[in-house]
Amino acid sequence: ALITLRQLLDHAAEHGYGVPAFNINNMEQGLAIMNAARAVEAPVILQASRGARSYAGDIMLRHMVQALSEMYPDIPICLHQDHGNNEATCLTAIRHGFTSVMMDGSLEADMKTPASYDYNVDITRRVTEAAHWVGASVEGELGVLGSLETGEAGAEDGSGAVGKLTHDQLLTDPDQAVDFVLKTKCDALAIACGTSHGAYKFTRKPTGDILAMSTIEAIHRKLPDTHLVMHGSSSVPQALQDLINANGGEMPQTYGVPVEEIERGIRMGVRKVNIDTDCRMAMTGQFRKVATGNPQEFDPRKFLIPAMKEMETLVADRFERFGTAGHA
Ligand code: G3H
Ligand code: 13P
Ligand code: NA
Ligand code: ZN
Repeated sequence: ALITLRQLLDHAAEHGYGVPAFNINNMEQGLAIMNAARAVEAPVILQASRGARSYAGDIMLRHMVQALSEMYPDIPICLHQDHGNNEATCLTAIRHGFTSVMMDGSLEADMKTPASYDYNVDITRRVTEAAHWVGASVEGELGVLGSLETGEAGAEDGSGAVGKLTHDQLLTDPDQAVDFVLKTKCDALAIACGTSHGAYKFTRKPTGDILAMSTIEAIHRKLPDTHLVMHGSSSVPQALQDLINANGGEMPQTYGVPVEEIERGIRMGVRKVNIDTDCRMAMTGQFRKVATGNPQEFDPRKFLIPAMKEMETLVADRFERFGTAGHA
């Protein structure tokens, strides 16, 4: 059945686990996530970006998720809008059956310009009020996602934020977070702690100076009842980088968020953990392997079946390590 983010994260907080939020764009990603969820009995968050909505179409996404909930009747599903940029994106998502939306007011509606605090409070408050009228949940974001090493938003950041960002912008201020949640009444709060979108997050295995888990700890201390969200939480596994590069890929060496740091975050109040890049790499690794190892192959299913399997393995691992397993 479909449930809201609030229902799911309240349960997660009560039982001390985290929930990975995986991005979906197509049937194969949906099946991979749901197969893993059934295998380990985990509730799921399926999230669709604006890009996913235009790729698959709102009607396709709605019916696909409806189909998944019929096929996997024992698995609770939250369908969430990832990085909504304005009121229209969030409200049309709800009309299309999403039970939760992210109103990302950390950037202006163009998703390129860091927004003022007042803009963020105002738009998040208005979206939360409207969403709550119809029983949907809202995730807000305070602080801009980007690298503490370079001051830049991630290379593949959908936002395309331009210009150098200061440490002040890249790390959520705990006192401001308290004020933001009070004023907006959002159900969950995405924070900035040095992670960024895409594969190129860190030039080395991150330490506390570039992955500020202490920021999360400080926010949780002041906001113990708010569900915290970590974006840019792919781990960019070395094995997947190697699989891609062994089969004709050219990904420069890079580092993601170690799973053990996310486990630490979950102990400090992180309840939703956004992961897209790792799933993309899992599928693409197998696409490349099939293409390289069986150059005579042209049946898409022969590419997609191992790709789904690789993604399913990754997803099941995150359910286990975040403590989501067993809570469906
Ligand atoms: O926030 C970024 C997510 O990975 C979604 O990416 O906008 O390319 O679908 P996308
Ligand atoms: P990754 O690029 O690290 O997978 O982050 C995804 C994300 O934050 C989607 O909102
Ligand atoms: Na989101
Ligand atoms: Zn994100």
